[in-house]
Amino acid sequence: MKLFLDSADVNEIKKRLSSGLIAGITTNPTLIRKSGGNPQHVYQELIDLGINDISMEVIGDSEEELFSNAMGHVKTYGDKATIKLPCSVDGLKACKRLSDINVRTNVTLIFSASQAILASLAGATYISPFIGRMDDNSLDGMKLINDISNALTGDTKILAASIRDPQSVGAAFSLGAHICTVPVSVFDKMYKHVLTDKGIEQFNLD
Ligand code: G3P
Repeated sequence: MKLFLDSADVNEIKKRLSSGLIAGITTNPTLIRKSGGNPQHVYQELIDLGINDISMEVIGDSEEELFSNAMGHVKTYGDKATIKLPCSVDGLKACKRLSDINVRTNVTLIFSASQAILASLAGATYISPFIGRMDDNSLDGMKLINDISNALTGDTKILAASIRDPQSVGAAFSLGAHICTVPVSVFDKMYKHVLTDKGIEQFNLD
């Protein structure tokens, strides 16, 4: 069981690292754009903070382009880089080539057990089912985690992504996720319970 932060906001990430509970970071182009930084700066700053597992999304129109962009990241960031690839024909071909040379991969935008199976057979280190986006579209994100967990037999880890609330973290782990990646707002809420606050207040009074 591991917890990652799903963010490219280096200042916000830094504030949570002292918890000692964060094992990695997942980013995507949208998160990087929202952070106002450029990918190279964000990745380097995260490495400087001591983060050892950073999902870096690569873009490309072909297997060759995805693979070569991935190798550029591996050259620059070494084993801190987890190469995030789309679940497409070219993305999975690039994934297989990378996994054959022991580069960590994260196949993203997974919305079905079939996609998860293909990504796992392509040697993906992680697969990222997007729970929140399933639920947004009247599909059952948690059922997907359960289905994938029942189907997979290899070493691929289920990285539950697109998580919108703390309850989903508990549910995803219970149904077989190995890792949950959460926005900082969800991480903060995971500490909280109204009865904990009430109990602390009463114990302090007493
Ligand atoms: O890790 C994937 C995540 O960033 C997507 O989240 O909230 O855009 O669906 P969301």
